[in-house]
Amino acid sequence: MESPVDRAANADGGFPLFRDWDLYSRIVHHNWMRHVEVSDCVAERLAVLDRPLRVMDLGCGDGQLSRRGLRSTRLAAYTGVDLSAGALETLRQSPPTGRASTAAVDTRQADLRVAAAELPAGEFDVVLANYSLHHLAPQEKRETLAHIRRGLRDDGVFIWSDIYRRPGQSRLGYLESLERRIRGEWTLLSEAEIEQVVSHIFDADFPEEEGWMVEAAAAAGFTRWADHFRDESFVVWSFH
Ligand SMILES: C[S@@+](CC[C@H](N)C(=O)[O-])C[C@H]1O[C@@H](n2cnc3c(N)ncnc32)[C@H](O)[C@@H]1O
Repeated sequence: MESPVDRAANADGGFPLFRDWDLYSRIVHHNWMRHVEVSDCVAERLAVLDRPLRVMDLGCGDGQLSRRGLRSTRLAAYTGVDLSAGALETLRQSPPTGRASTAAVDTRQADLRVAAAELPAGEFDVVLANYSLHHLAPQEKRETLAHIRRGLRDDGVFIWSDIYRRPGQSRLGYLESLERRIRGEWTLLSEAEIEQVVSHIFDADFPEEEGWMVEAAAAAGFTRWADHFRDESFVVWSFH
């Protein structure tokens, strides 16, 4: 049977929720998924890399999280990959620039699983995957992590922010808790929009247990990791 991410990859524009981008951009705008905290973690983690950076952003959306996270870097090149043409169109109007505005920006409407598999070895200083890998099946996550490791320089950094399950928490338990959070907190959305978001998470979101995520990154070849932010739904790690 076709998985949700296969269905999205075979449809023009990816997952329905991300096709016109307006609804998701309002979720980001209200910081309901803690994009401010996540992008601050990205900025802090990258502050030590004071060299021209080549950055790959897998599932970049409209690039706003990365734009904020990369704002103090010496950004040499930024590549954003996403299935959503609408998101990429918005990104092109206001791309990540880093400290100056000289970065070469490339956007690709593509399946991140394919883009990751095609990463040239040792090409990137930074790979970002913000709230995108949870759409993949476990084995696809493992393969993508291995491709990311191969695409990074040995002193490069991978930043993974995502939804996650606590030890022993089931997928259903996680989704029900996120649903309660959405219904309780995301109240500026219309009822129809809330239903659309809830239906999206039950169809398309496959968070892993936090221990699994760290073990899978280690199995992909990352030897060190740091935990930068977490609340009951969202987590940010860096690996190198
Ligand atoms: C929750 S949004 C996150 C967007 C952005 N990174 C952020 O943090 O705001 C998930 C993004 O991943 C993209 N996406 C999901 N599966 C994908 C795939 N297989 N290939 C490329 N993009 C994908 C979606 O189109 C969407 O833009």
